[in-house]
Amino acid sequence: MVEEKSKPKRIGLLTSGGDAPGMNAAIRAVVRAGIFHGLEVYGIYSGYRGLIEDDIVPMKEQSVSGIINHGGTILRAGRCEEFKTEEGMALAEKNCRKHNLDALVIIGGDGSFRGGLEFYNLHAVNTIGVPASIDNDIAGTDASIGFDTAVNTAMVCVDKLRDTAEAHERIFVVEVMGRASGAIAIDVAVACGAEGILVPEVEMDIPALCKTLQVGKERGKNSFIVIVAEGATSAFHVAREIEERLGRETRVLVLGHLQRGGPPTAHDREMASKMGAYAVDLLLAGKNTRMVGIQSGKMVDHHLSHAWEERAPFDEQSLLLAKRLAI
Ligand code: ADP
Ligand code: F6P
Repeated sequence: MVEEKSKPKRIGLLTSGGDAPGMNAAIRAVVRAGIFHGLEVYGIYSGYRGLIEDDIVPMKEQSVSGIINHGGTILRAGRCEEFKTEEGMALAEKNCRKHNLDALVIIGGDGSFRGGLEFYNLHAVNTIGVPASIDNDIAGTDASIGFDTAVNTAMVCVDKLRDTAEAHERIFVVEVMGRASGAIAIDVAVACGAEGILVPEVEMDIPALCKTLQVGKERGKNSFIVIVAEGATSAFHVAREIEERLGRETRVLVLGHLQRGGPPTAHDREMASKMGAYAVDLLLAGKNTRMVGIQSGKMVDHHLSHAWEERAPFDEQSLLLAKRLAI
């Protein structure tokens, strides 16, 4: 039985780090589940900066109407170096006290969770993490909010590219996001039947890539798509290497921040809703400094430090499949 005193009455909610499609669904779930359970929910704008600058507003049921289908975050996200200082955290704690916030729900990546844990260690404000990052680089969960949408956005772009690559018998090198993770690249390569893929988790082998492209050409293939994760190398570098070695016309497309926008997929909306509601359940159960996750379809929770102390899932099987099917 959870002691009444450890149950929160008023919680703060923020989105931090790189924004991710589905964050709004998570915000909506935390607000509505919190109100359902009799909690007051306060929105904090622009990540931890809003906590430091007291940019904090009460959220009502209607505050989150009509947002589940929109990318981005109504609370804005952001990075805040000041929160990494004791002075910044002291200001943040003063504002938590001013608004009588018993706990914070942090929707963000492992960096944001690290900030939440440091804040708890320094000022004993409870924090619960909801994993949101298109990179899917957070340990403790099979997927983070935004990853599925980013993969689908990149897939649609690459499908369009295939048309012109076929028309001109060209090679296209497409750079996708992911910071130090190759997760987006791997899923896009499998989904689009890419002829080549480079990820930071595997040592780059340009000669082997060129050999694959050459064999494909000899087998009669007319178009070639090479997916490069930004953490592996620059797509422009790969394109130059291919042109020099094969003498073939090669073009580059960097998808960049397109992968962070657009309406979240059903999968991301549902997962974000479950994660947001589960974060509230953890608070009601008196849990401290936990992160929400979904593993084998089940809601789980781990200590916040799990997000960066363990390794995020690396889907080597899918990488090998992408290469095997690209013959
Ligand atoms: P993500 O959450 O997407 O990994 P970042 O790593 O950029 O994003 O972190 C987002 C924000 O979290 C930072 O701008 C900072 O405000 C806060 N943060 C990250 N690491 C720490 C830390 N060690 N101590 C305090 N705050 C941190
Ligand atoms: O972490 C999400 C992410 O989109 C990474 O994939 C990318 O490298 C980074 O953020 C870009 O950061 P910014 O939006 O600050 O340019």
